Formats: sequence, structure tokens, C-alpha cells
Amino acid sequence: MRHLLSIDDVSADEIRMLFDTAAEMHDVQRRQVKKLPALRGRTVINLFFEDSTRTRSSFEIAGKWLSADVINLSAKGSSTSKGESLRDTVLTVTAMGVDGLVMRHSASGAAEQVSRWIDVPVVNAGDGTHEHPTQALLDAYTLTRRLGSLEGRHVAIVGDLTHSRVFRSNVKSLVKLGAEVTVVAPPTLMPAGVSTWSKEAGFATAWDLDEVLPHADAVMMLRVQRERMSGGFFPTAREYTVGYGLTRDRLARLREGTPILHPGPMNRGLEIAPEAADAAASLVLDQVSAGVAVRMSVLYHLLAGDEGVSA
Ligand code: CP
Repeated sequence: MRHLLSIDDVSADEIRMLFDTAAEMHDVQRRQVKKLPALRGRTVINLFFEDSTRTRSSFEIAGKWLSADVINLSAKGSSTSKGESLRDTVLTVTAMGVDGLVMRHSASGAAEQVSRWIDVPVVNAGDGTHEHPTQALLDAYTLTRRLGSLEGRHVAIVGDLTHSRVFRSNVKSLVKLGAEVTVVAPPTLMPAGVSTWSKEAGFATAWDLDEVLPHADAVMMLRVQRERMSGGFFPTAREYTVGYGLTRDRLARLREGTPILHPGPMNRGLEIAPEAADAAASLVLDQVSAGVAVRMSVLYHLLAGDEGVSA
């Protein structure tokens, strides 16, 4: 693995290897032994052209807990606000001698493009509506820790699929790990071409959430991304919640203990009721915690070379 731009870059075996390392990192995290020397002397830059709470801070923590020097640069406060191009920006920061680049950008394909301009490993931390591979890895890692093997498990991914890079990465990783995936959205938020893609990739599509939920071993709710809807939001928020929200009523109809995931940030009361977000079966904060361990694992495998994980 030279870069992590898409879940296409990793096989099922490589995902399992990343999970094994993440489990070691998680144990380190739990035992409060917070620093490993694996990336001592390496420098990682987090280049975020879109806002982030979870991804940016967990990559920063992950790098620091592996003893890397971590630099954060966002569009606001960098010379991109003066019109500097993406190419000039990444060539400039890599000329300073960084060893790895973590990047979020609003343009689909931006991370792939950057990986062709520079010689250091690039991690895609979300590119437009294309992919968010580390989110998918941490989601599958969290589910695996809760359910054991995902082989034959039925995962429902529900929500604004059109604008979701999380959905696009998650179907790939979950199918690779043997899960049966059904994606559910209103027709207006079902991406063009999904029916062809679903047949090729081996997942199902549905419009009726109430038909899918009783059969789900896990439910992943997605954020309604109103900031990406230039033409307005249809259905209305109220109609959306009635048709596709994980409401209190639907929560009561899930099989007991069905894990509930959401990548965050959540629109409480729109796609997920507070009672579902905070339910005993909710894995939302487990996902956040796993994000550090999984990102440590990714940085370690991309940047550590032959050096060991030992404390
Ligand atoms: N899930 C996710 O990518 O969250 P942030 O936008 O806060 O990083």
C-alpha cells in the first residue's frame, strides 16, 4: 500500500492486517501508554481544505501518539486564500521535507490527483462525494469488534447517499469483508448509476426503510448534507424524518441490541433521533475512539517502513 486514496487500494487481507494493528494501537490507547516511537523523526502534514472535527483531530492525535511531528494546515489561514493552486500548495509543503500528507478536499479525485504530483504517501481524508476510506475502515473495525466476523451480516446504510463519500467507501469495505449491504434512500437522494454499480459490486438498494430495518444486523445512518444541495432539500426535513429517520418508533422496532452507527456530525432530530444516537446500542462514540486507532494503523503501515510497533 503506497497511498490510501480509496478502499480499492486495499484487499480484504490488508484490511484485516490494518485491523490487527489497530487493535494493538487500541490496547495502547486503553492502557494509557499513549506514545509509540514508530514514527519518530517523520513529519506528517494534515492539509484540510474542508472543515472537520473528527478526522482532522484524530489524524493529529494518531500521528502524535506514533511520535511523528504533525503540522496542520487549513484553507483558511494558508496561501490558498490568496489564490495559490492546489498543485503549488502541495509541492510547497512537500519541498519542506514532509514524509506523509493527509488531505481533505471538496473536489472528488483531489487526493488521487495530488498523489500523482508528489513522492510521499497520501491519505485521502475525504474528497468531495467520492470516498472517505479511513472512515469506512474505522466503521468496519468498530462493527467487527461488536459483531465478530462480518461474514453474512446484514448492514443497512441509510440516508443521503447522493452526497455521501462515507457510503461509497463503506459499501466497498463491508462487501470485501463479506457483509450483505442494503443501501436505503429516498429516490431524490439515490445516486445516478447506483443500480448498475450495486449489481457489479454486490449490494442491494431499497427505498422502504421499514422493510429493511427488521432484517438488519447493524444500521448505519448518514448525515443529510444540506450544504451540498444547491437546488434545495427534497423531501422536506419533516418528510425525510418520517420516511428515512431513525426515529424513536423505528428504534423500538429494531431487534434488541442492533448496533447503530453514524459517522458524524449528526443532525439530531433529522436523520437520527437523540434517543437512537444515545441508545445503549449506539456505537457513535466507539467509532470516534476507533478512529484514532485505525488512523494510527494506517499511518504506521504507510510511513513506518520496517520499524516495529513496540513501545
Ligand atoms: N466523519 C467525519 O468525517 O467527520 P468530520 O467531518 O468531523 O471529520
